[in-house]
Amino acid sequence: MRRVSLTQYLVEQQREHGMIPAQLRLLIEVVARACKRIAIAVNKGALGDVLGTAGSENVQGEVQKKLDIISNEVLIEANEWGGHLAAMASEEMDSIHVVPNRYPQGEYMLLFDPLDGSSNIDVNVSIGTIFSVLRKVGHTRGVSEDDFLQPGKHQAAAGYCIYGPQTMLVLTVGNGVVAFTLDRETGSWVLTQPEIRIPEDTKEFAINMSNMRHWAPPMRRYVDECLAGKTGPRGKDFNMRWVASMVTDVHRILMRGGIFMYPWDEREPDKPGKLRLLYEANPMAFLVEQAGGAATNGRERILDVVPAKLHERVSVMLGSRNEVERVTEYHRNVE
Ligand code: AHG
Ligand code: MN
Ligand code: MN
Ligand code: MN
Repeated sequence: MRRVSLTQYLVEQQREHGMIPAQLRLLIEVVARACKRIAIAVNKGALGDVLGTAGSENVQGEVQKKLDIISNEVLIEANEWGGHLAAMASEEMDSIHVVPNRYPQGEYMLLFDPLDGSSNIDVNVSIGTIFSVLRKVGHTRGVSEDDFLQPGKHQAAAGYCIYGPQTMLVLTVGNGVVAFTLDRETGSWVLTQPEIRIPEDTKEFAINMSNMRHWAPPMRRYVDECLAGKTGPRGKDFNMRWVASMVTDVHRILMRGGIFMYPWDEREPDKPGKLRLLYEANPMAFLVEQAGGAATNGRERILDVVPAKLHERVSVMLGSRNEVERVTEYHRNVE
């Protein structure tokens, strides 16, 4: 396959489809460069001052890891001067970060989970960065939190970087899903998968089984049927995977199919689930749908959900279309 860099891919996509205006191309290239810097910090491990906790708590009530903060700062500093962004929002920041007046404002807004899978940082298991791009609404310089409360179907782009055995950038601008692998010798992102598709069926499910006794009956029914195997109602044996880094579980599903679920849990009945809508579920749902999969909250498309709050949580079922439709049907039937 001819060697295509990220920049060449973005230029050719703009030439052929007109879906990557100059500011969006700059945004994607800047985020990709920031992810390279995060990868360098991640790969230092104990040799750099990047492991362990930072001693602070984020707006989610989570103890922040040093890498949560380092990666958040790398993304803020890389993006605020370019003139492509009006504001940013992050899992690690209470409220939005508006581009300072000393810089020109752009047409886009960037949201990110700067370090996903934080519980895996200190045990050397793959982690990642998730990002979502919205268009700025309105044309005044002022940007408010409400401007971010757009349904995921309005995203202009979404992607993630996975810091694993390979460092890979997976991206969609609404015209399918592509993957780039970081060539460490040249420092460039090289196109390695030009058209990622998720198989409609699967024998592999991903869920944190230790929470089973706290799930609603439809989720219990779906997983029990998977566990019943060949002699059960599904007529086939299933395998289970749970890495506890959403990026890694979703990457596996994009590569070979599967279903990922983080459902409602009776321990926190007023929360629909653990994962955050705007910078975890929405970007992953956009990628999964663009690769031919499905993503729901048990009732509706995740991309149709209109957020009420910046750090809103949501129940997530995503991956191979036929499995997501089945588990969603079980949830709809009990309402
Ligand atoms: P983050 O590290 O950004 O807070 O996200 C962690 C999320 C997600 O990556 C993963 O799928 C899930 O938490 C794992 O939750 P459990 O530890 O409860 O399994
Ligand atoms: Mn977190
Ligand atoms: Mn996360
Ligand atoms: Mn995170």
